[in-house]
Amino acid sequence: MRTDTPTVIGLDDYRPSDHLADTIHLDILLHPTATRIVAETAFRPNPAGRPGAPLVLDGDELRLCGIELDGQPLPAEAFEASPQGLTVLAPPQRPFRLRVVTEVDPTANTKLMGLYRSGGIYCTQCEADGFRRITYALDRPDVLSVYTTRIEADESEAPTLLGNGNPGEAGAIPGTGRHFAIWHDPFPKPGYLFAVVGGRLGKVSKPFTTMSGRPVEIAVHVEPGKEPRAEYALDALERSMRWDEEVFAREYDLDVFNVVAVSDFNMGAMENKGLNIFNDKYVLASPETATDSDYANIEAVIAHEYFHNWTGNRITCRDWFQLCLKEGLTVFRDQEFSSDQRSRAVHRIGEVRTLRARQFTEDAGPLAHPVRPNQFREINNFYTATVYEKGAEIVRMLKTLLGEADFAAGMTRFFETCDGTAATVEDFLDAFAAVSGRDLSDFARWYVQSGTPVVTVRTEYDPAQARYRIDLTQETPPTPGQAEKGPLVLPVALGLVSPTGAAIAADCADLRPDGVHVMAGSRASLIFENVRERPVPSLFRGFSAPVKLRLDLGDDDLLALLEHDSDPFNRWQAAQMVAMRLLVGQATSESGTPVEASLLRLALALGRVLVVESERDPAFAALLLSLPSETEIAQEIGSDVDPDAVHRAWLAARGTIGTVLAADLAAIRAATEPDGAYSPDAASAGRRALRNVALDLLASADPAFGEREADRQLAAAGNMTDRLAALAVLSRIPGDTRERALARFAEDFAGEPLVLDKWFGIQAAIPEPGTLDRIHGLTSHPAFSFTNPNRVRALVGSLALANPTQFHRADGAGYAFLADIVLMLNGSNPQVAARLLTAFSTWRTVEPGRRANAESQLKRIAREQNLSPDVSDIVARSLSEA
Ligand code: BES
Ligand code: ZN
Repeated sequence: MRTDTPTVIGLDDYRPSDHLADTIHLDILLHPTATRIVAETAFRPNPAGRPGAPLVLDGDELRLCGIELDGQPLPAEAFEASPQGLTVLAPPQRPFRLRVVTEVDPTANTKLMGLYRSGGIYCTQCEADGFRRITYALDRPDVLSVYTTRIEADESEAPTLLGNGNPGEAGAIPGTGRHFAIWHDPFPKPGYLFAVVGGRLGKVSKPFTTMSGRPVEIAVHVEPGKEPRAEYALDALERSMRWDEEVFAREYDLDVFNVVAVSDFNMGAMENKGLNIFNDKYVLASPETATDSDYANIEAVIAHEYFHNWTGNRITCRDWFQLCLKEGLTVFRDQEFSSDQRSRAVHRIGEVRTLRARQFTEDAGPLAHPVRPNQFREINNFYTATVYEKGAEIVRMLKTLLGEADFAAGMTRFFETCDGTAATVEDFLDAFAAVSGRDLSDFARWYVQSGTPVVTVRTEYDPAQARYRIDLTQETPPTPGQAEKGPLVLPVALGLVSPTGAAIAADCADLRPDGVHVMAGSRASLIFENVRERPVPSLFRGFSAPVKLRLDLGDDDLLALLEHDSDPFNRWQAAQMVAMRLLVGQATSESGTPVEASLLRLALALGRVLVVESERDPAFAALLLSLPSETEIAQEIGSDVDPDAVHRAWLAARGTIGTVLAADLAAIRAATEPDGAYSPDAASAGRRALRNVALDLLASADPAFGEREADRQLAAAGNMTDRLAALAVLSRIPGDTRERALARFAEDFAGEPLVLDKWFGIQAAIPEPGTLDRIHGLTSHPAFSFTNPNRVRALVGSLALANPTQFHRADGAGYAFLADIVLMLNGSNPQVAARLLTAFSTWRTVEPGRRANAESQLKRIAREQNLSPDVSDIVARSLSEA
């Protein structure tokens, strides 16, 4: 382990590699504890590098077993080797071949980076810097090589051998019980996209013909016996491939496309060229074991990794500072895909909820950073909501600014000019500037400035002149290392709505025909003429820019938007704003503000809207009924937060809404009784979502009724969605029924780790003082393991991220528990440890008592010897003052 203070890497320090590696031949001799890797690389000096420079190869925990240069053993004085690197001191000033033999122990690899074993399957994870854990290499994204991989293994242990690219020669090695397979990937790629898999796997596959008529075999490989659960992923893959052809004219480029599901995986999934490796929770689905959201996630993650084939693989990143170039853009693409497959408005609301809960929180705390950071100590800590989600919002704003046609032309130009290269954010923006003739230099500030802009709105109506005026100002609060902020280019999609529902034409010189005003400075004034009645403004329709909105509208105006706006996102948003206002009032007032009247008006308005929406779009209706989360409320309060007060306000509001709407909710439940077989399609899922939100609210209003009804649903449920929704409701109603239901569920799904994760998660999220003890107990459950990231996230992650009152316990026990786990995982799996640790990032916003407890736990972690770079980076930034 690296124990020294990790060095800071800066964007400005970029310089091209001194050497290039044109081809790499790998021979991988799989063995559980002693896998040998023979790597033969064709190096040459980079014309753009420093002449005569030593060849400096990266390594990480490697054992060097042999080294030859152009067929001759390299004398000891010609190189320096350690587990962390290999330097050839005076390499030839011409092309040369280096043959390096290393040995690694995949079974002992608990970090799940490089080559490791998951449930007996050999697999790899090389992004961001895991390739150097397999062999010494120029492990940087701008060194692209053509790979040929020979994999050899015991035939009985690993009947399936997969690599990047296209399959070549394969066969038995007579008399040894071993066999081999050779894979060749013709597309030059960086080492982070390298992958191999070996193991006993079942598969489902089908032929796919690309738009130009090329045949491809697409396949999903899973644990034998689980093949039926891979069908949905295969179907999603096929739909993704077709969609990328239709929408972006991107065609697949190899003869095969393989997806492999493994149980132990640090992240969600990985886009290795032609060989995507997935966390099995984003592949395996059956109605009995997966919920509607699992199906939706599988569809999105399959699409995301597939879309990387163009945005990430064919065009990769020059350096890791450009991560958003592939991740933000690919998230945008997978969001567009999911919106086309499902309801666009419903999907948009979901995207914004995650953005607000995760990215806004990050942007408001000590870990805030620009979408393109300018320095890092540990790149693994920059796969963040900011790079991903805000990165996707920037691409969406670009589309709004340029319009469909120029955006499409810009994408095409980007694909054409950058194909086969390691590109930068500038290259991306240049493509759009070139096709549109626009100067995007102001817009580019979105990539370099951190923090969430706050847009304040003042409105004024002059009936005598029939004139309406909207004044907008924007301001971005300071973030760590960035005190001064400039104005951002904001596409403001807007319209005017009559409080009575009539349409009002927006006669405004500063509005484009599509209803977008482009705000480029810190303030803007929009004047509307011929406005005959006082309008209500509907601003940032569809969440056209990722900002916080401060609006001078009263509840009545907001409720008018809820009822009459033509923009579904803003209808939902209006209800959220009314709810947020009263929740914040309730959670922060000492005496308890009289919010009942306001809450009643909201509930009644929701009731009116529901009459239509529960039929028209049940998924949308379900979202209307979902209050802002405790995380969002806490963030809105911003400082001295008392999580218990937030929770009480949240509970009370739900109780009131459930009581006021009891009859409507009961009617909804009656009208949405499940009929027929389960189907994961969006319409059926929407009905289930509405039905289950109704149950949740009814239970908040009347726990005794809720307990009976949830127990009944649990017994009758024919699918995991309804079952889990019922169990979640029961989990918040203490008593025997709950404990029996939990015990029964564990018995029913004893052999299903992914289902037990849901069970761990529900229990870890119970907002009661007994929960920490319960979690402690569950760490000894036979199905729990600290070596499996999914288990850890289900149990510990749910406490930290989905249980505000118990994580932020006033006595500090929640913080101490998380700190213990972080320290335990620091050595075995630093990436998982560092991610859990980010839950502390809101520590400065809680009230002083909790703040002191959190700080002392962070300091305890910081004092620890042998901190991994991952954990040390997060803890240092979390504690830093500026
Ligand atoms: N390239 C990433 C996987 C990755 C993340 C590798 C971090 C190394 C470090 C992959 O494309 C990805 O983004 N996966 C996401 C899921 C996706 C749908 C946003 C993940 O793993 O969470
Ligand atoms: Zn990605």
